[in-house]
Amino acid sequence: MRIAITGTPGTGKTAVARLLARRLGYRYVDLKLLAEKKGAVCGYDRSRRSKIVDVALLEKVLPPGDLVLDGHFSHELEADGVVVLRTAVEELARRLRARGWPARKVRENLQAEIFNVCGEEAAALHRQVLELDTTRLKSAATAAAAAKWIATLK
Ligand SMILES: Nc1ncnc2c1ncn2[C@@H]1O[C@H](COP(=O)(O)OP(=O)(O)OP(=O)(O)O)[C@@H](O)[C@H]1O
Ligand SMILES: [Mg+2]
Repeated sequence: MRIAITGTPGTGKTAVARLLARRLGYRYVDLKLLAEKKGAVCGYDRSRRSKIVDVALLEKVLPPGDLVLDGHFSHELEADGVVVLRTAVEELARRLRARGWPARKVRENLQAEIFNVCGEEAAALHRQVLELDTTRLKSAATAAAAAKWIATLK
């Protein structure tokens, strides 16, 4: 089974994906790292200030077997289920500012969260999508909720 963990930066994808992979006995995949390693980064989007990833190429170099995919574009890959992590704007602002990110980058990501960009894209591409709010939940509780849902997937 392949599970994609998506969401705006700072919503807790990496924290939750690692715990979830351990819990399920699945392999954890950092998609950004894999894309860089396999030469699947095919450009840079200046307006969005983010790397453009060749998703088709990335799909080909993914390891076989049960995977938990971590990345804000993980929903663009094939998956049996997609977990979208959401966070209240005030809390997300706190997490992103704590990273020392410039105000503009924080604002852009808060906007993406307000418009639920990842969630909308995931819903357009996949049949089995779960949204989880990590504002008050701890990472472990979030991973537990995801695992419970995954157990119901076909
Ligand atoms: N319920 C929660 N689930 C996950 N992370 C949480 C939660 N509550 C607080 N956090 C914290 O939020 C911060 C951001 O988490 P993390 O780095 O995993 O986000 P991310 O979505 O992987 O971001 P990026 O897209 O930049 O990699 C971490 O410090 C994490 O401990
Ligand atoms: Mg991360």
